[in-house]
Amino acid sequence: MIFHFLKIKAVVPNTKKSVLVSFDVPHTLQSTYSFKPGQHVCLDFFLERNNYRRTYSIYSAPADNQLSICVKRQHLGIISNYINDAFFKGLPVNVSQPFGDFFNEAQLHNCKAIYLWAGGSGITPLLSIAKYVLLKHSNIHVNLVYANQDLQSIILLDEIEQLESAYVNQFKVMHVLSAANNENMTEKLFAKKRKVLNYKQGVITADYIKQIVKVNGLHYLCGPQGMMALCKNTLQQLNINDHDIKVEHFAGSNTIAKANINATIVVNINGTKTQVPSTGKSLLDAMLANNIKPPYACQAGTCGTCKATLVNGEVVMSRDFALNEADRSSNKILCCQAWAKSDIVEIKY
Ligand code: FES
Repeated sequence: MIFHFLKIKAVVPNTKKSVLVSFDVPHTLQSTYSFKPGQHVCLDFFLERNNYRRTYSIYSAPADNQLSICVKRQHLGIISNYINDAFFKGLPVNVSQPFGDFFNEAQLHNCKAIYLWAGGSGITPLLSIAKYVLLKHSNIHVNLVYANQDLQSIILLDEIEQLESAYVNQFKVMHVLSAANNENMTEKLFAKKRKVLNYKQGVITADYIKQIVKVNGLHYLCGPQGMMALCKNTLQQLNINDHDIKVEHFAGSNTIAKANINATIVVNINGTKTQVPSTGKSLLDAMLANNIKPPYACQAGTCGTCKATLVNGEVVMSRDFALNEADRSSNKILCCQAWAKSDIVEIKY
Protein backbone atom coordinates (compact mmCIF):
# COMPACT_ATOMS: atom_id res chain seq x y z
CA MET A 1 0.00 0.00 0.00
CA ILE A 2 1.35 3.42 -0.99
CA PHE A 3 1.58 6.18 1.63
CA HIS A 4 2.51 9.85 1.16
CA PHE A 5 2.64 12.77 3.53
CA LEU A 6 -0.28 15.09 2.71
CA LYS A 7 -0.74 18.46 4.37
CA ILE A 8 -4.01 19.14 6.11
CA LYS A 9 -6.02 21.70 4.14
CA ALA A 10 -8.67 22.34 6.79
CA VAL A 11 -9.92 21.05 10.13
CA VAL A 12 -13.51 22.03 10.87
CA PRO A 13 -15.45 21.08 14.00
CA ASN A 14 -18.62 19.19 13.10
CA THR A 15 -20.51 17.93 16.12
CA LYS A 16 -19.18 18.40 19.65
CA LYS A 17 -17.35 15.11 19.27
CA SER A 18 -16.19 15.09 15.67
CA VAL A 19 -14.10 17.06 13.20
CA LEU A 20 -13.96 17.20 9.43
CA VAL A 21 -10.46 16.93 8.02
CA SER A 22 -9.55 17.59 4.40
CA PHE A 23 -6.16 17.03 2.81
CA ASP A 24 -4.20 18.94 0.21
CA VAL A 25 -3.38 16.56 -2.61
CA PRO A 26 -0.56 17.95 -4.77
CA HIS A 27 -1.05 17.92 -8.51
CA THR A 28 1.57 15.18 -8.98
CA LEU A 29 -0.38 12.83 -6.66
CA GLN A 30 -3.87 13.45 -8.03
CA SER A 31 -4.14 10.06 -9.72
CA THR A 32 -2.76 8.21 -6.66
CA TYR A 33 -5.44 9.78 -4.47
CA SER A 34 -8.38 9.61 -6.87
CA PHE A 35 -11.08 7.55 -5.18
CA LYS A 36 -14.37 5.80 -5.67
CA PRO A 37 -17.43 6.48 -3.49
CA GLY A 38 -17.39 4.50 -0.25
CA GLN A 39 -13.61 4.02 -0.13
CA HIS A 40 -11.36 4.74 2.84
CA VAL A 41 -7.83 5.84 3.62
CA CYS A 42 -5.46 4.67 6.30
CA LEU A 43 -3.57 7.23 8.41
CA ASP A 44 -0.21 6.26 9.83
CA PHE A 45 1.14 7.91 12.99
CA PHE A 46 4.21 7.65 15.14
CA LEU A 47 3.24 8.95 18.56
CA GLU A 48 5.17 8.57 21.78
CA ARG A 49 7.37 5.84 20.31
CA ASN A 50 4.44 3.81 19.04
CA ASN A 51 3.23 3.27 15.52
CA TYR A 52 -0.53 3.46 14.95
CA ARG A 53 -2.65 3.04 11.86
CA ARG A 54 -6.32 3.90 11.63
CA THR A 55 -8.71 3.65 8.72
CA TYR A 56 -11.33 6.32 8.00
CA SER A 57 -13.95 6.41 5.27
CA ILE A 58 -13.93 9.32 2.84
CA TYR A 59 -17.19 11.24 3.13
CA SER A 60 -16.62 13.50 0.13
CA ALA A 61 -17.53 12.34 -3.38
CA PRO A 62 -15.16 12.15 -6.36
CA ALA A 63 -16.82 15.20 -7.97
CA ASP A 64 -16.05 17.31 -4.87
CA ASN A 65 -12.36 17.22 -5.87
CA GLN A 66 -11.55 17.01 -2.21
CA LEU A 67 -10.30 14.20 -0.01
CA SER A 68 -12.14 14.58 3.30
CA ILE A 69 -12.74 12.39 6.33
CA CYS A 70 -14.77 12.82 9.49
CA VAL A 71 -13.29 11.61 12.77
CA LYS A 72 -15.42 11.08 15.83
CA ARG A 73 -13.90 10.89 19.28
CA GLN A 74 -13.89 7.40 20.79
CA HIS A 75 -13.82 6.76 24.51
CA LEU A 76 -10.09 6.26 25.30
CA GLY A 77 -9.37 6.41 21.57
CA ILE A 78 -5.75 7.52 21.38
CA ILE A 79 -5.83 8.46 17.72
CA SER A 80 -9.40 9.77 17.38
CA ASN A 81 -8.81 12.09 20.34
CA TYR A 82 -5.42 13.14 18.97
CA ILE A 83 -7.01 14.05 15.64
CA ASN A 84 -9.82 16.01 17.33
CA ASP A 85 -7.44 17.85 19.67
CA ALA A 86 -4.20 18.32 17.77
CA PHE A 87 -4.79 18.37 14.02
CA PHE A 88 -4.26 21.76 12.39
CA LYS A 89 -4.05 23.27 8.92
CA GLY A 90 -0.66 22.58 7.32
CA LEU A 91 0.22 19.55 9.48
CA PRO A 92 1.70 16.78 7.29
CA VAL A 93 -0.02 13.41 7.82
CA ASN A 94 1.03 10.06 6.35
CA VAL A 95 -2.02 8.98 4.31
CA SER A 96 -2.48 5.81 2.26
CA GLN A 97 -3.93 5.80 -1.21
CA PRO A 98 -7.72 5.19 -1.07
CA PHE A 99 -8.88 1.59 -1.06
CA GLY A 100 -11.98 -0.56 -0.50
CA ASP A 101 -14.74 -2.04 -2.65
CA PHE A 102 -17.91 -1.23 -0.72
CA PHE A 103 -19.48 0.36 -3.79
CA ASN A 104 -19.52 -1.13 -7.26
CA GLU A 105 -21.15 1.07 -9.89
CA ALA A 106 -21.81 -1.87 -12.22
CA GLN A 107 -24.43 -3.10 -9.74
CA LEU A 108 -26.54 0.00 -10.31
CA HIS A 109 -27.54 -1.31 -13.71
CA ASN A 110 -31.36 -1.53 -13.76
CA CYS A 111 -31.50 -0.29 -10.17
CA LYS A 112 -34.38 2.03 -9.30
CA ALA A 113 -33.59 2.73 -5.63
CA ILE A 114 -30.82 2.45 -3.12
CA TYR A 115 -31.26 2.32 0.66
CA LEU A 116 -28.49 3.59 2.90
CA TRP A 117 -28.68 2.36 6.51
CA ALA A 118 -26.34 4.43 8.68
CA GLY A 119 -25.58 4.57 12.39
CA GLY A 120 -23.40 7.34 13.90
CA SER A 121 -20.12 7.79 12.04
CA GLY A 122 -21.20 4.99 9.67
CA ILE A 123 -22.67 7.85 7.63
CA THR A 124 -19.27 8.72 6.10
CA PRO A 125 -18.98 6.16 3.25
CA LEU A 126 -22.77 6.30 2.73
CA LEU A 127 -22.77 10.07 2.23
CA SER A 128 -20.09 9.69 -0.44
CA ILE A 129 -22.23 7.06 -2.18
CA ALA A 130 -25.37 9.21 -1.87
CA LYS A 131 -23.66 12.25 -3.42
CA TYR A 132 -22.27 10.17 -6.25
CA VAL A 133 -25.52 8.40 -7.12
CA LEU A 134 -27.59 11.60 -6.90
CA LEU A 135 -25.23 13.37 -9.26
CA LYS A 136 -24.66 10.58 -11.77
CA HIS A 137 -27.90 8.58 -11.75
CA SER A 138 -30.93 10.85 -11.81
CA ASN A 139 -33.21 7.82 -12.29
CA ILE A 140 -32.26 6.22 -8.96
CA HIS A 141 -34.02 7.19 -5.73
CA VAL A 142 -31.73 7.45 -2.73
CA ASN A 143 -33.19 6.70 0.72
CA LEU A 144 -31.10 7.38 3.80
CA VAL A 145 -32.08 6.01 7.20
CA TYR A 146 -29.75 7.53 9.76
CA ALA A 147 -29.69 6.52 13.43
CA ASN A 148 -28.15 8.71 16.12
CA GLN A 149 -28.59 9.53 19.79
CA ASP A 150 -30.03 13.01 19.49
CA LEU A 151 -30.20 15.97 17.14
CA GLN A 152 -26.88 17.41 18.12
CA SER A 153 -24.97 14.20 17.60
CA ILE A 154 -25.90 13.92 13.91
CA ILE A 155 -22.65 13.93 11.99
CA LEU A 156 -22.47 15.77 8.64
CA LEU A 157 -25.96 17.22 9.03
CA ASP A 158 -25.16 20.33 6.94
CA GLU A 159 -24.05 18.20 4.00
CA ILE A 160 -27.13 15.97 4.30
CA GLU A 161 -29.49 18.96 4.37
CA GLN A 162 -27.77 20.55 1.37
CA LEU A 163 -28.39 17.34 -0.57
CA GLU A 164 -32.02 17.27 0.57
CA SER A 165 -32.49 20.80 -0.79
CA ALA A 166 -30.70 20.08 -4.04
CA TYR A 167 -32.46 16.78 -4.77
CA VAL A 168 -35.96 17.28 -3.36
CA ASN A 169 -37.58 14.56 -5.47
CA GLN A 170 -34.72 12.10 -5.51
CA PHE A 171 -33.34 12.03 -1.95
CA LYS A 172 -35.29 11.07 1.13
CA VAL A 173 -33.82 11.17 4.62
CA MET A 174 -35.31 9.52 7.69
CA HIS A 175 -33.65 10.30 11.01
CA VAL A 176 -33.99 7.88 13.92
CA LEU A 177 -32.98 9.33 17.31
CA SER A 178 -32.70 7.11 20.36
CA ALA A 179 -32.40 9.79 23.05
CA ALA A 180 -34.15 12.75 21.45
CA ASN A 181 -36.23 14.79 23.86
CA ASN A 182 -39.06 16.87 22.44
CA GLU A 183 -39.25 18.90 25.64
CA ASN A 184 -35.58 19.86 25.71
CA MET A 185 -35.32 23.59 24.83
CA THR A 186 -31.81 23.34 23.34
CA GLU A 187 -32.99 20.58 21.04
CA LYS A 188 -36.10 22.54 20.11
CA LEU A 189 -33.99 25.53 19.09
CA PHE A 190 -31.57 23.32 17.22
CA ALA A 191 -34.37 21.54 15.36
CA LYS A 192 -35.99 24.83 14.37
CA LYS A 193 -32.98 25.80 12.29
CA ARG A 194 -32.89 22.38 10.67
CA LYS A 195 -35.01 20.13 8.53
CA VAL A 196 -34.90 17.41 11.20
CA LEU A 197 -38.24 18.43 12.65
CA ASN A 198 -39.71 15.05 11.96
CA TYR A 199 -37.83 12.03 13.10
CA LYS A 200 -38.58 8.64 14.52
CA GLN A 201 -37.92 8.50 18.22
CA GLY A 202 -36.24 5.28 19.31
CA VAL A 203 -34.08 2.87 17.36
CA ILE A 204 -34.26 1.12 14.02
CA THR A 205 -36.51 -1.93 14.41
CA ALA A 206 -37.47 -4.79 12.11
CA ASP A 207 -40.98 -3.34 11.72
CA TYR A 208 -39.56 0.06 10.82
CA ILE A 209 -37.29 -1.47 8.18
CA LYS A 210 -40.26 -3.31 6.68
CA GLN A 211 -42.23 -0.04 6.49
CA ILE A 212 -39.39 1.79 4.77
CA VAL A 213 -38.47 -0.76 2.10
CA LYS A 214 -41.12 -0.26 -0.54
CA VAL A 215 -39.37 -1.21 -3.78
CA ASN A 216 -36.55 -3.49 -4.83
CA GLY A 217 -33.12 -1.96 -4.69
CA LEU A 218 -29.62 -2.13 -3.34
CA HIS A 219 -28.92 -1.79 0.38
CA TYR A 220 -25.74 -0.36 1.90
CA LEU A 221 -25.19 -0.80 5.65
CA CYS A 222 -22.64 0.94 7.85
CA GLY A 223 -22.93 1.43 11.60
CA PRO A 224 -22.72 -0.46 14.89
CA GLN A 225 -22.63 -4.25 14.59
CA GLY A 226 -26.00 -4.77 16.30
CA MET A 227 -27.75 -2.34 13.98
CA MET A 228 -26.22 -3.87 10.88
CA ALA A 229 -27.09 -7.41 11.99
CA LEU A 230 -30.71 -6.38 12.54
CA CYS A 231 -30.91 -4.62 9.17
CA LYS A 232 -29.32 -7.53 7.34
CA ASN A 233 -31.56 -10.16 8.99
CA THR A 234 -34.70 -8.14 8.33
CA LEU A 235 -33.76 -7.49 4.70
CA GLN A 236 -33.17 -11.22 4.27
CA GLN A 237 -36.65 -11.87 5.73
CA LEU A 238 -37.95 -9.57 3.02
CA ASN A 239 -36.35 -11.95 0.51
CA ILE A 240 -33.73 -9.47 -0.53
CA ASN A 241 -30.85 -11.29 -2.13
CA ASP A 242 -27.51 -11.25 -0.26
CA HIS A 243 -25.88 -9.79 -3.37
CA ASP A 244 -28.04 -6.71 -2.93
CA ILE A 245 -26.98 -6.12 0.70
CA LYS A 246 -23.58 -4.46 1.06
CA VAL A 247 -22.06 -4.22 4.50
CA GLU A 248 -19.15 -2.01 5.56
CA HIS A 249 -17.65 -2.91 8.91
CA PHE A 250 -16.23 -0.41 11.33
CA ALA A 251 -13.03 -0.82 13.22
CA GLY A 252 -13.62 -1.72 16.85
CA SER A 253 -11.75 -2.63 19.98
CA ASN A 254 -10.49 -6.15 20.45
CA THR A 255 -9.74 -7.98 23.62
CA ILE A 256 -8.66 -11.55 23.37
CA ALA A 257 -8.84 -13.31 26.70
CA LYS A 258 -7.97 -16.75 25.31
CA ALA A 259 -4.63 -15.73 23.84
CA ASN A 260 -1.54 -17.75 24.71
CA ILE A 261 0.88 -15.15 26.04
CA ASN A 262 3.86 -17.54 26.00
CA ALA A 263 3.56 -18.78 22.43
CA THR A 264 6.27 -18.72 19.79
CA ILE A 265 5.34 -17.28 16.42
CA VAL A 266 7.31 -18.53 13.44
CA VAL A 267 7.10 -16.05 10.58
CA ASN A 268 8.01 -17.22 7.10
CA ILE A 269 8.42 -14.31 4.68
CA ASN A 270 9.54 -15.38 1.21
CA GLY A 271 11.23 -18.50 2.64
CA THR A 272 13.10 -16.75 5.48
CA LYS A 273 11.90 -17.88 8.90
CA THR A 274 12.09 -15.76 12.05
CA GLN A 275 10.77 -16.57 15.53
CA VAL A 276 9.17 -14.00 17.84
CA PRO A 277 7.43 -14.33 21.23
CA SER A 278 3.69 -13.65 21.31
CA THR A 279 3.64 -11.87 24.72
CA GLY A 280 -0.16 -11.59 24.48
CA LYS A 281 -0.02 -9.42 21.36
CA SER A 282 -1.79 -10.01 18.05
CA LEU A 283 0.46 -11.74 15.52
CA LEU A 284 0.91 -8.45 13.69
CA ASP A 285 1.78 -6.50 16.82
CA ALA A 286 4.19 -9.23 17.94
CA MET A 287 5.98 -9.02 14.59
CA LEU A 288 6.11 -5.22 14.61
CA ALA A 289 7.45 -5.24 18.18
CA ASN A 290 10.31 -7.42 16.92
CA ASN A 291 11.17 -5.31 13.91
CA ILE A 292 9.54 -7.57 11.36
CA LYS A 293 7.63 -5.48 8.84
CA PRO A 294 4.89 -7.57 7.20
CA PRO A 295 2.28 -5.91 4.96
CA TYR A 296 -0.51 -4.23 6.90
CA ALA A 297 -2.77 -1.18 6.78
CA CYS A 298 -5.96 -0.70 8.78
CA GLN A 299 -5.16 -2.88 11.83
CA ALA A 300 -8.92 -3.29 12.16
CA GLY A 301 -9.69 -6.45 10.24
CA THR A 302 -11.30 -4.66 7.34
CA CYS A 303 -8.75 -4.13 4.55
CA GLY A 304 -7.21 -7.62 4.19
CA THR A 305 -3.65 -6.31 3.67
CA CYS A 306 -2.24 -8.39 6.56
CA LYS A 307 -3.59 -11.69 5.20
CA ALA A 308 -1.23 -14.66 5.69
CA THR A 309 -1.48 -18.47 5.63
CA LEU A 310 -1.61 -20.35 8.91
CA VAL A 311 0.79 -23.24 8.34
CA ASN A 312 0.93 -24.72 11.85
CA GLY A 313 -0.80 -24.25 15.18
CA GLU A 314 -4.00 -22.55 16.24
CA VAL A 315 -5.07 -18.94 16.54
CA VAL A 316 -8.12 -17.12 17.87
CA MET A 317 -9.49 -14.46 15.58
CA SER A 318 -11.18 -11.35 16.84
CA ARG A 319 -12.79 -10.43 13.53
CA ASP A 320 -12.38 -11.63 9.98
CA PHE A 321 -14.51 -9.35 7.83
CA ALA A 322 -11.83 -9.14 5.15
CA LEU A 323 -11.77 -12.91 4.55
CA ASN A 324 -14.03 -14.72 2.12
CA GLU A 325 -14.98 -18.40 2.08
CA ALA A 326 -12.09 -19.32 -0.23
CA ASP A 327 -9.65 -17.59 2.17
CA ARG A 328 -11.03 -19.43 5.17
CA SER A 329 -10.89 -22.82 3.53
CA SER A 330 -7.27 -22.23 2.53
CA ASN A 331 -6.25 -21.34 6.11
CA LYS A 332 -5.84 -17.63 5.53
CA ILE A 333 -5.90 -15.44 8.61
CA LEU A 334 -5.72 -11.73 9.30
CA CYS A 335 -2.60 -11.20 11.37
CA CYS A 336 -3.87 -7.95 12.90
CA GLN A 337 -6.88 -9.87 14.29
CA ALA A 338 -5.23 -13.19 15.21
CA TRP A 339 -3.77 -14.18 18.55
CA ALA A 340 -1.74 -17.35 19.18
CA LYS A 341 -3.69 -20.08 20.96
CA SER A 342 -1.28 -23.03 20.65
CA ASP A 343 2.32 -22.97 21.91
CA ILE A 344 3.71 -22.63 18.41
CA VAL A 345 2.07 -20.82 15.54
CA GLU A 346 3.64 -20.71 12.10
CA ILE A 347 2.47 -18.31 9.41
CA LYS A 348 3.63 -17.80 5.86
CA TYR A 349 3.48 -14.79 3.51
S1 FES B 1 -4.25 -4.68 8.48
FE1 FES B 1 -6.21 -4.46 7.54
S2 FES B 1 -7.14 -6.40 7.92
FE2 FES B 1 -5.28 -6.48 9.02
